Amino acid sequence: MERRSTLDARDWAAWHNAYDDPGSALARRLATVRARIGEVLDTAPPGPVRVVSLCAGQGRDLIGAAAAHPRGRDVRARLVELDPANVRAAREAARAAGLPGVEAVAADASRTDAYLGAAPADLVLACGVFGNITDDDIHRTISLLPGLCAEGAHVVWTRNRRPPDPTPRIRRWFGRHGFQQCWIAPPGERAYGVGVHRFAGRPVALEAGVRMFTFVGYDVLREGAPWPS
Ligand SMILES: C[S@@+](CC[C@H](N)C(=O)[O-])C[C@H]1O[C@@H](n2cnc3c(N)ncnc32)[C@H](O)[C@@H]1O
Repeated sequence: MERRSTLDARDWAAWHNAYDDPGSALARRLATVRARIGEVLDTAPPGPVRVVSLCAGQGRDLIGAAAAHPRGRDVRARLVELDPANVRAAREAARAAGLPGVEAVAADASRTDAYLGAAPADLVLACGVFGNITDDDIHRTISLLPGLCAEGAHVVWTRNRRPPDPTPRIRRWFGRHGFQQCWIAPPGERAYGVGVHRFAGRPVALEAGVRMFTFVGYDVLREGAPWPS
């Protein structure tokens, strides 16, 4: 069944305001994601570091991490985001941070076409995505990630661990599709989960015209769930 998108029903620019409250779960998640991105940059071989971000929002994770990292100027990123206000905010943040290699495009991140010319990437960000799509689509997206990944690429992903914790099955799906776990957030923080997986399989060509997921929205998936989902 084709589910409706909640993009028009939710203010995804305002969603980012919780990042400005340092005590919020979202701010803690952001710090964790930025730290993991920093570790990927620490170990990246010399030369350009190719990044794609699915449903990138305002790009606070990558832009914040790259701005603070000596390899940040090597980042060549495509942030894919549908909300025009968020795209503008990401472009402005990248410009202000002096990161000319970071582009933000207004496009549908669920479609593989959005990554043509930017994939294969060394780092794939899927943050704030898995909580907004069905389990079937999480699995489907993971199964298609090899098309976005260069050899040895890292994927940084998030999903909250509200019981019943879905992250064990997400980790199993990564394992099934050629990824090895590098890092998983300790289970104490239930409001969010963050994982890092490394692609250990053989790269595959990205097939154009494939829908990876339908962005349903956490509020449709789980009525009344608090943010972040
Ligand atoms: C939960 S936010 C996460 C933003 C960012 N990745 C982060 O973690 O800060 C989800 C974002 O997905 C965007 N979005 C929803 N459907 C999309 C689609 N089909 N393609 C691109 N972006 C989409 C929304 O506009 C929103 O900015």
